[in-house]
Amino acid sequence: MTSDWVAPERDLAMELVRTTELAAMAAARWMGRGDKIKADQAAVDAMRVMLDGVAMDGTVVIGEGEKDEAPMLYNGERIGNGNGPHADIAVDPIDGTTLTATGQAGAIAVIAAAERGTMYDPGPIVYMEKIAVGPEGAGIVDIRLPVEKNLRALAKAKGKDVRDLNAIVLNRERHAGMIEEIRSTGARISLIQDGDVAGAIATARPDSGVDILFGIGGTPEGVITAAALKCMGGDLQGRLWPRDDAERELAEQHGFDVEKIITLDDLIGTRNCFFAATGISSGALLRGVRFGNDTITTQSLVMRGRSGTVRLIEADHRKSKLDQLKS
Ligand code: FBP
Repeated sequence: MTSDWVAPERDLAMELVRTTELAAMAAARWMGRGDKIKADQAAVDAMRVMLDGVAMDGTVVIGEGEKDEAPMLYNGERIGNGNGPHADIAVDPIDGTTLTATGQAGAIAVIAAAERGTMYDPGPIVYMEKIAVGPEGAGIVDIRLPVEKNLRALAKAKGKDVRDLNAIVLNRERHAGMIEEIRSTGARISLIQDGDVAGAIATARPDSGVDILFGIGGTPEGVITAAALKCMGGDLQGRLWPRDDAERELAEQHGFDVEKIITLDDLIGTRNCFFAATGISSGALLRGVRFGNDTITTQSLVMRGRSGTVRLIEADHRKSKLDQLKS
């Protein structure tokens, strides 16, 4: 029998999602219990265990930090079972540790993978300025332009009035001026306490009610977000944001040009990338973990760059079976 169909490539994200599911379930046990260190540790442990079973030869590019400060999922750690594709890996077992510890909306567990050598390594540079949009804003917004121009261009591209736009911004003092600029256009704002990965990805999800993300957030989070936006056809542009002269010098010593615009292709230099995220607490992007009698329900996003497929996966996990995993 002949067929025009070609066997599809493996979707690594379909396996990686098991790591974010387990991390989210472990983290959700700590929701609202006031201990972000324990929440993070639980998520790291769970993700690390699950990664051992994934058929890949992965190297952590974005992890929990340098080896001396992170016993697991440290930058440079080899993960996966060693068989399979050579991949750069970015992990954030919890984006929103404080959200988790205080029981607030929008915490997620997240992982991204890309062909070896294609993921941006931000070195010691903690923060970057970001602008993120979904597919309708790709090629329309430009981080070098004033906020107002970007909002007007995006509104036009989306066929909306500027006042109908919703811009997501981290609630930080450093954004006070920018928030005023957004407000002066009449656009609406969702101020979030933490979690700009979910916030940025929401701009590319239909029905999320979020149109654009502006502001300064974590550089590692920017790289992870880029993998998702690459899969979804959105855009993320950035610029490193040293906090002071010492950080500026450090950036230069590491060969970074702090004036340079960092494009989506700089962050993830391939379409051969994968992304998975699972909700810990419910937010604009994903529902959080729900505990039932013998089931734990998770909601996840799973994406593959080459095809652009985005899956929303709801899973019921057997509590009793999961407990057996621990022994
Ligand atoms: P953590 O979960 O690691 O605390 O990160 C949360 C977060 O809000 C990120 O989403 C964001 O990129 C970064 O922190 C912003 O940094 P800061 O809280 O220092 O402004």
